[in-house]
Amino acid sequence: MFDVLGFIEQKRDGKFHTPEQLEDFVNGCMKGEVPDYQAAAWLMAVYFRGLSEGELLSFTKALADSGDKITFPKDIVVLDKHSTGGVGDKTTLIVLPIVASLGVPVAKLSGKGLGFTGGTIDKLSSIPGMNLQLSAKKFINQVMEIGCAISGHSEALAPAEGFFYSLRDVTGTVPSIPLIASSIVSKKLAGGASSFVFDVKFGKGSFMKGKEKSFQLADALVNLAKAFDKKALALLTNMNAPLGTWVGNSAEVQEALDVLRGEGPQDTRELCLSLAGAMLFIAGKVKSIEEGKAEAGRAISDGRALRQFERLVRAQKGTLDEGIISGSKKMPLAKNVKEIRSLEEGYVAECNALNIGLALRKLGGGRSRKGESIDLTVAVEILKKKGAFVNEGEPLARIYFNRTNLLEEATELVSSAFIVGHEKPSGELLVERVVE
Ligand code: URA
Repeated sequence: MFDVLGFIEQKRDGKFHTPEQLEDFVNGCMKGEVPDYQAAAWLMAVYFRGLSEGELLSFTKALADSGDKITFPKDIVVLDKHSTGGVGDKTTLIVLPIVASLGVPVAKLSGKGLGFTGGTIDKLSSIPGMNLQLSAKKFINQVMEIGCAISGHSEALAPAEGFFYSLRDVTGTVPSIPLIASSIVSKKLAGGASSFVFDVKFGKGSFMKGKEKSFQLADALVNLAKAFDKKALALLTNMNAPLGTWVGNSAEVQEALDVLRGEGPQDTRELCLSLAGAMLFIAGKVKSIEEGKAEAGRAISDGRALRQFERLVRAQKGTLDEGIISGSKKMPLAKNVKEIRSLEEGYVAECNALNIGLALRKLGGGRSRKGESIDLTVAVEILKKKGAFVNEGEPLARIYFNRTNLLEEATELVSSAFIVGHEKPSGELLVERVVE
């Protein structure tokens, strides 16, 4: 009989578990033999004591092995990309078709948005008819046939990860680097890809608070994935301000299509080219990330990436009006508009991503709890990005809304996101570091 109390005390006292103990513990939790309060006590002990490299590997393996696994043929390199979540982050919608259009298969498993960050599955669900919960068979076949697929994470994959995540969510144990790394990597391993690019955000709108912590997470993710013989690379990217001009589910699909047509905001294009470049590089398609960026740029300018996006939508039963693809029509947007005007003249020194993400949630565009339904058409449009000059009374942002009950709070959040000063602020790097 597995000694759960002894196991918890071992970690409490800073000692190390064996791989067998960790496997027994995870299995015991899944079979309901370990009560939630003991699992939670162990999580808190890990929060303070951490896990050794060996323990992290064994725990991650136990999570990944706890359910079904997707398996691709051994001879093909399949990529996945994971973002730690941000505000206005629509990069997956752009990067996935770029990379697939260049002959590198991408199998993307994605989550729904929670808290102040958005989720790719929610964004794509604003395309009518899109099937975003693919069976394993359909997921694999689609990647083999058209080069990419995107699906919500099935509960049958790494179910133990879901069990621990739910407990962490209510016990203050989410922000632990070994627990986050094992959570992310176990899901990626179950998803079947053989190479991963992690987009680890830092800054005001990122999930990790403190730049140093984001750097540590990037290292942990890359090292852990490599310990499973996967290729991995992380980009540390700036999330102080929202990415692009639009924040909101349907509006972000619109902006992604703009970028795929060679238009759209420069920061979004630039980050997508870097991520696509990194993916092409670890897939062995190009010799450097820079070369990959140039290839990715060509896939946009000659229309291959946009055609691949259309193929992806069609394969998953979505219907997109021709006009929306060509740019003559727009994705649906809430009809009521409120402008946020600057109280003074000067340069935008800051547009705080966290405030904008929270404002979108107040408007109904994000969730506070799992399973909540959301309004896909509400949005915040950023008219003046960091460094832009604004006159007194000129609009900084627009809020597109349907319901008015929390509109005042959302307005306050958007207004206070902006800091306008007399000096033009210096620029910030979008990609701060590459971790290989
Ligand atoms: N995202 C995950 O998938 N897991 C975590 O633990 C935190 C963020």
